[in-house]
Amino acid sequence: MSKTIIYYFSGTGNSRFVAERLKDRITGAIIKPIVENARKSTIENAQKSTIDNATKSIGFTFPCHFGDMPYIVKDFIGQLEIPADTYIFAVVTRGGGKGDTLLNLQEVLSKKGCRLHYGVSMRMQMTYLPAFYYNMMFLHGRSGSRNTQKVNDKIERISLYVKEKREFIEWRNPIEAKFEKVLNHRLLNFDLRGLDSEFSAGENCSGCGICADICPVKSSTLSDGKPVWQHNCTHFMGRINYCSREAIEYGGRTAGKRRYHHPQVTVKMMKEQ
Ligand SMILES: Cc1cc2nc3c(=O)[nH]c(=O)nc-3n(C[C@H](O)[C@H](O)[C@H](O)COP(=O)(O)O)c2cc1C
Ligand code: SF4
Repeated sequence: MSKTIIYYFSGTGNSRFVAERLKDRITGAIIKPIVENARKSTIENAQKSTIDNATKSIGFTFPCHFGDMPYIVKDFIGQLEIPADTYIFAVVTRGGGKGDTLLNLQEVLSKKGCRLHYGVSMRMQMTYLPAFYYNMMFLHGRSGSRNTQKVNDKIERISLYVKEKREFIEWRNPIEAKFEKVLNHRLLNFDLRGLDSEFSAGENCSGCGICADICPVKSSTLSDGKPVWQHNCTHFMGRINYCSREAIEYGGRTAGKRRYHHPQVTVKMMKEQ
């Protein structure tokens, strides 16, 4: 049976949820965390990750970060060895506009002699808490229930198209593109890696360690029962949203804002990344 590998990366569970649901609907599909695979290929003598001959299609599900792929996803796909005849699909989860994410993914793939056959985006909950002066979670509802039906229907459709190996790429609408360029101008020219000085854990931190355990790049450790940031944070927003005590803040920009993580993606699942 031909195999499908779905590589996923997820900061707050949305993309993991999509990967799980696609796996359930595509016979012979398995999911693999991008972070673990990226780490393994670095640790094991900087070997590249390779795909075996039985794999006929591969998919990527990950969030849009500032109109692009998260750094870790771009680096991982860049070093992945993909046989030329592989069917490649991608589902980008997003809270607003997807920017140039699919275009940039196509560019990374074409440098490797491959191409994206099917690429779509899926609107879910906005998880970048510091960016907004108003509470995005309020718009979507804490559990994201307003979106649930739409998301499930879209996953169903995507799985059918992928099984049929259809070709379609959801390129950007030029008006949306212009608007986003203005909106994201400062952020898109800004490398956030390592900028963690504004994170802090307040009095109500219980020292449970969940924040350190779920961070895919291990950007904090616990010292005297409190998280200490290690200056390699990439702003995935997993910890701030998964802390059940809502003890983590980012400067003055997150106080009072609702936290969100996908309701069906548990801490245990996040630790698997
Ligand atoms: C650092 C960061 C940057 C983001 N930038 C964008 C963006 O440019 N456009 C957008 O639509 N959503 C953006 N989002 C929202 C996420 O793409 C969206 O919430 C996604 O579904 C989160 O998926 P995850 O739970 O798998 O991490 C951003 C989120 C984060 C954490
Ligand atoms: S998850 Fe929250 S409560 Fe637990 S150690 Fe981190 S900041 Fe403290």
